[in-house]
Amino acid sequence: MSAELNTTYLGLKLKNPLVVSACPLTAEIDQLKRLEQAGAAAAVLPSLFEEQIEHDSMQMAEAQEFGAESFAEALTYFPQQDEFRTEPEEYLETIAKAKKAVAIPVIASLNGTSKGGWVRYAKMMQEAGTDALELNIYFVPGELEMTGPDVENRYLELVAAVRESISIPLAVKIGPYFSSLGNMAQRLVESGADGLVLFNRFFHPDIDLEKLEAHPQLHLSTSAELSVPLRWIALLHGRVKASLAATSGIHDAPGLLKALLAGADVGMIASVLYQKGIAEVSEILAGLSKWMEEKEYSSVEQLKGSMSRENCPDPSAFQRGNYMKTLTSFVGEAI
Ligand SMILES: Cc1cc2nc3c(=O)[nH]c(=O)nc-3n(C[C@H](O)[C@H](O)[C@H](O)COP(=O)(O)O)c2cc1C
Repeated sequence: MSAELNTTYLGLKLKNPLVVSACPLTAEIDQLKRLEQAGAAAAVLPSLFEEQIEHDSMQMAEAQEFGAESFAEALTYFPQQDEFRTEPEEYLETIAKAKKAVAIPVIASLNGTSKGGWVRYAKMMQEAGTDALELNIYFVPGELEMTGPDVENRYLELVAAVRESISIPLAVKIGPYFSSLGNMAQRLVESGADGLVLFNRFFHPDIDLEKLEAHPQLHLSTSAELSVPLRWIALLHGRVKASLAATSGIHDAPGLLKALLAGADVGMIASVLYQKGIAEVSEILAGLSKWMEEKEYSSVEQLKGSMSRENCPDPSAFQRGNYMKTLTSFVGEAI
């Protein structure tokens, strides 16, 4: 008998634990349909950014101000407000189109760093039909005056503001850089997160030695990156009242299996789809079923979290344990 792959994420019943992470592929309706056909259980749309919303609001305000001061003739140069399709409006249309095109849950993504007027888009996304919202908070605290608690409060206030404005499930996607990530995870949940998406990949800057320019670089991930979400999902599973999604470094069935064993409700993929193609979704799912049958697991629910800190034979492996032994037992010579 084949293993039951279904799982629950953010209260959504999913046919399996493989979700397409926020990336441009999911906003292309043809690609989204192909992802569904290949077996993806849900898809997160690429983010609508705080900057896009604020920029469009500013442009709209400028256009209106200029229009009011002009002669009627000049007004005709400006599009009427309802003809003026902004990026945020297009985003809302994409949600509606995606919902019409596929039967799997579609999760919109809002991306920003601070509480503000742009948060109203959370409600608009809900009204456009998204099944859940993923809030990606990507903040680099470059100000030396800003303390750790300042940064944390910024996150918590933003989560609370979004939570207040919607009734659909809310997932919060964060990076791993907190002094006490477990405590922060707990407080994000207390502030209204129904799920945590671990982890954001920060795009690190590089310096071009010829042009003497600094620029951020987007590198696709490698499977080695999975170890960071793996640790934290194992540490948090069963201890925070929230769904857990693993993102960063899932490239194959073993990666997905490790995320589930650590305690994730779903594993998310993006980079591997760019590196190997959409067919990889069915490859990963086939590998998941095969391994579960070989190891006699009857369901994803059964294996979820069986290697978490709470359940695994040596929980210290996820904390400092074995740190010294691992370093001192390393055998290798410099060439
Ligand atoms: C081309 C590209 C675009 C992305 N755009 C977004 C985005 O708009 N919002 C977001 O939250 N994450 C975005 N991500 C990050 C992914 O959702 C994912 O978290 C990250 O790539 C790690 O997963 P992976 O190792 O499977 O790639 C993007 C990733 C890629 C490769």
